[in-house]
Amino acid sequence: MEKPARVGRVLAVGGGKGGVGKSLISTNLAVSLAKAGARVVMLDADLGAPNLHTMFGIMRPDRTVEDFLSGRNATLDEVALPTPVANLRIIAGAEGALGSAHPTFQSKQKLLAELGRLAADVLLIDVGAGVDLDTIDFFNAADTRLVVMVPEITSLQNGYAFLKIALFRRLQRASVGLRASEKLTAAFGKDAFEIGSTMDKVSTFFTMLEDEVPELVASFRLLLAEFNASIVGNMLHKPADRNALFAIQRMITERLGIQVEVVAALRQNAQVRNSVNDGKPFAISAPHTDPDVKELGQLAQRLLQQDLSPIRKLREQFTKAMKTRPIDPSLHSKFEFGLEGIETARSSQPVKEPKASDQAQPQFSSEFRQLQRISERIKLYLPIELDFDGRSYLGQLVEINEGGADISGIRAPAGWQAGTRGTLRVIGDQVHGLIAITIHAVNPNGNLIIKFSDLEIAAKLVAELRKRSGA
Ligand SMILES: Nc1ncnc2c1ncn2[C@@H]1O[C@H](COP(=O)(O)OP(=O)(O)OP(=O)(O)O)[C@@H](O)[C@H]1O
Ligand SMILES: [Mg+2]
Repeated sequence: MEKPARVGRVLAVGGGKGGVGKSLISTNLAVSLAKAGARVVMLDADLGAPNLHTMFGIMRPDRTVEDFLSGRNATLDEVALPTPVANLRIIAGAEGALGSAHPTFQSKQKLLAELGRLAADVLLIDVGAGVDLDTIDFFNAADTRLVVMVPEITSLQNGYAFLKIALFRRLQRASVGLRASEKLTAAFGKDAFEIGSTMDKVSTFFTMLEDEVPELVASFRLLLAEFNASIVGNMLHKPADRNALFAIQRMITERLGIQVEVVAALRQNAQVRNSVNDGKPFAISAPHTDPDVKELGQLAQRLLQQDLSPIRKLREQFTKAMKTRPIDPSLHSKFEFGLEGIETARSSQPVKEPKASDQAQPQFSSEFRQLQRISERIKLYLPIELDFDGRSYLGQLVEINEGGADISGIRAPAGWQAGTRGTLRVIGDQVHGLIAITIHAVNPNGNLIIKFSDLEIAAKLVAELRKRSGA
């Protein structure tokens, strides 16, 4: 008997916030992959407002994923529509098909199982906006995860939050039904794995669990190593905008414990915008020499060349580790497509959908004692650039009030002196510009404490951040 077809690799493009260019990047990356010779199928997994087909000038798709799910067409292969690009097909989304809000478990399972059987080298999933669990599950079903970020604070925060919730969903899956999950709940509240979780530093709770359930921590570590996520920047105004992406990259590695790389970045480009209106991807129409076309061409090559065997090996190890535990025997068979992506019906700890208001809001700590009495400090994670001693440093602002701020990620240079003057700039913030500061101290934890030179400017910044944090 002929071996059934299997999709070669699965890429997913996500990013949390709407309008950052996920569909645009998916589309043009898909074109670049097809141009590089791969047989590509794209899936519009945007459950709320599917519109990927319009990127190709298709206004009303003849067939959508709904035709497959409802059984009107026999195979998913038949609903994969040709595009003007050779080797590239698209499975159009349908509003209300996967359920405008939530597909049933069965339809997700049916879809995920069948996607794996497509005769394609690459399946590329545009997962759509938001962080609801269907979106996250599609993202997690991939071998390679790309998260699109625009170098602006809200997009960076959303991108971070998106990765965090995707990663935590997998960690949660790994601990379902274990006593350790009770301990986690006790320590971090029942929202331990959710977006508003205070469990922001992955290494901290690994340490907590290491003595008691080393095998679970070992599984967690496999998941971190296997996560395979990368950042794709979009709408950069100038080369220095990359710094904001690097800052968030460092923050992701530091806090979530996963290695991410900035694998490509596209400029803010009027031609790109026009290509959307014309219904013709710019990777088709723009010349080969266009820097953005080149950037995507390189990314496509790199993705096609990526050796997934180490990742798949880790995944096997993980699945094996899971099998030694008496949790839910039906769980394993459902991991066949990618590692995850399917909500298990018998999950003992269903994950609540994060409320819109919970998304990517900087956390405000109510317990924080007022070290400086000007106003209560706000806790946040904001990429910043600090200039002093003639050098420029990227770090994260983690606490602030009108008097000063606590900055992590910057090691004070040898021979530093309290009172050194410099400037601070919030990355992506066009409003406040350079803010004068003096270096005040180094915290025992290595964080820099800075003071603001001009109280009035500091007050404005703090007021703005306070408003954003909803405090
Ligand atoms: N690099 C760019 N330069 C200029 N405009 C861009 C660029 N990238 C995206 N855009 C513009 O932003 C719009 C939104 O992009 P796109 O639809 O890809 O976002 P999205 O993240 O998929 O949004 P949603 O979450 O709503 O699906 C596009 O229609 C395009 O006009
Ligand atoms: Mg989109």
